[in-house]
Amino acid sequence: MRTYLVTGGAGFIGSNYIHYMFKKYDNEIRIINVDKLTYAGNLENLKDVENRDNYTFVKADICDKEAIRKVFAENDIDRVVHFAAESHVDRSIKNPEVFVQTNVLGTAVMLNCAKEAWELPDGTFKEGKKFLHVSTDEVYGSLPDDDNAFFYETSPYDPHSPYSASKASSDMLVKAYMDTYKFPANITNCSNNYGPYQFPEKLIPLIINNALQGKDLPVYGDGKNVRDWLYVEDHAKGIDMVQEQGKLFETYNIGGHNEKQNIQIIHIILDTLQEMLPEGDPRKELVSEKLIKYVTDRKGHDRRYAIAPDKIKADIGWYPETCFEEGIKKTIAWFFENEEWMKNVTSGDYQKYYTDMYSNK
Ligand code: NAD
Ligand code: TYD
Repeated sequence: MRTYLVTGGAGFIGSNYIHYMFKKYDNEIRIINVDKLTYAGNLENLKDVENRDNYTFVKADICDKEAIRKVFAENDIDRVVHFAAESHVDRSIKNPEVFVQTNVLGTAVMLNCAKEAWELPDGTFKEGKKFLHVSTDEVYGSLPDDDNAFFYETSPYDPHSPYSASKASSDMLVKAYMDTYKFPANITNCSNNYGPYQFPEKLIPLIINNALQGKDLPVYGDGKNVRDWLYVEDHAKGIDMVQEQGKLFETYNIGGHNEKQNIQIIHIILDTLQEMLPEGDPRKELVSEKLIKYVTDRKGHDRRYAIAPDKIKADIGWYPETCFEEGIKKTIAWFFENEEWMKNVTSGDYQKYYTDMYSNK
C-alpha cells in the first residue's frame, strides 16, 4: 500500500486533494496529513475522512525539523505532496516574514527530511519515492493585456509580491535538489483555483459570501486584472497524474484556459446566484450589482496571469475538464449546502474543531 505524506491538507486545495485521492484509491493508499492549522487550516474540511483507518492527522509545523523527521522515521513514506504554505497575496504584502519562514524554510525542511529518509549510501534514492511541490503561476510575474501571451514552463521567473517571491524561492530549492542530488521530484505551477472549502478571503468565496449578505463587493483598481480560473478537483487530478505519469525532474504548468477579468467573475457570480436562489428566498433581494465597490488597488497588483497547459496535455493527457459555468454552479451549490461551514469560518469557531476532535486522542 502506497503511503502519502500530504502537507497543508486541511487547507483549501490540500483537503480537496485528500477527498479526491480517497474517492479514487479508497483503501489502496494511506494518507498522513501534516498541518500546523494556521488560520487557513480547518479540520472540518476533512470530517468525512477523519475516521478512516488509512488516514492520520499530525499537527506540526513544516519548519519543525524534528517533527517532520519523526513522521518520516515512523512511516515508510512513498509520496510527498507538498501544499503547506502561506497563500494569500494581501497578507504577504502586510506581513512578508511568515511567508519566507513557511514557504522557503518549510520547503527546505521538507526536502531535507525526505532526502535523509530516501537516500541510499551510494547517493541514489530508494526505488519509487517521489516528492511533488505544489506551486503557482504567480512565480512567472505578470502578462500584458494581450490575449496571445501565456506562461510556459520555460518562461523566466519574475515574481512581484512577497507571496510569489517566496514561492519562486521554494521552487528554486526544489530545482536545486533535483539538479544537485537527482532528488526524485516534480514541480507543478497552477493558476487560480476555486471550489468547495476555499477560505473567504480569496476573490470567489468572498464575493459569494458578501453578496448573499448584501455586503460590499470590493473590486481592486479598475477590476480588469485577469486571472486564469481552474476548478479545484481538476487541479487535484492533475497533481495525481503528474506524480504517477509525469517524467521525474520536470515542471508542469496546470491551468484552466479560462481567463477572466475580476469584474467579469463578479458579474457571473451575481447572475448565477440570482439563477440558483429559489423564488421567495429573501437573499434574492440582497444580491445586486449595486453592491460592487471599486476600492484602492492592491500594491504591485499583477495585471494578467494565463497558463498554456500544452505540455501537461501532450505528455500526460491532462486537461481542464470543468468549464467555468459548471464549476461556479458546483461551487455555489456547495456553499448553499454548507452554510454552517461558512458561519464557523467567519465567526472563527472552526478553530475550536481541533481542540474538540483531537486534543484527547
Ligand atoms: P491555504 O492557505 O488554503 O492552505 C494552506 C494550508 O497550509 C493550511 O491548512 C495551513 O494550516 C497550512 N500551513 C500553513 N503554514 C504551515 C506550516 N508552517 N506548517 C504546516 N502547515 C502549514 O492554501 P491553498 O489555497 O490550499 O494552497 C495550497 C498550495 O497550493 C500552496 O502551496 C499554494 O501556493 C498553492 N497554489 C494555490 C493556488 C490557489 O489558487 N489557491 C493556486 C496555485 C497554487
Ligand atoms: P485572490 O483571490 O486574492 O488571488 P490572487 O491574488 O492570488 O490572484 O485575488 C484574485 C484577483 O481578485 C486579484 O486580481 C485581486 C482581486 N481581488 C479583488 O478585486 N477584490 C478582493 O476583495 C480580492 C480578495 C481580490
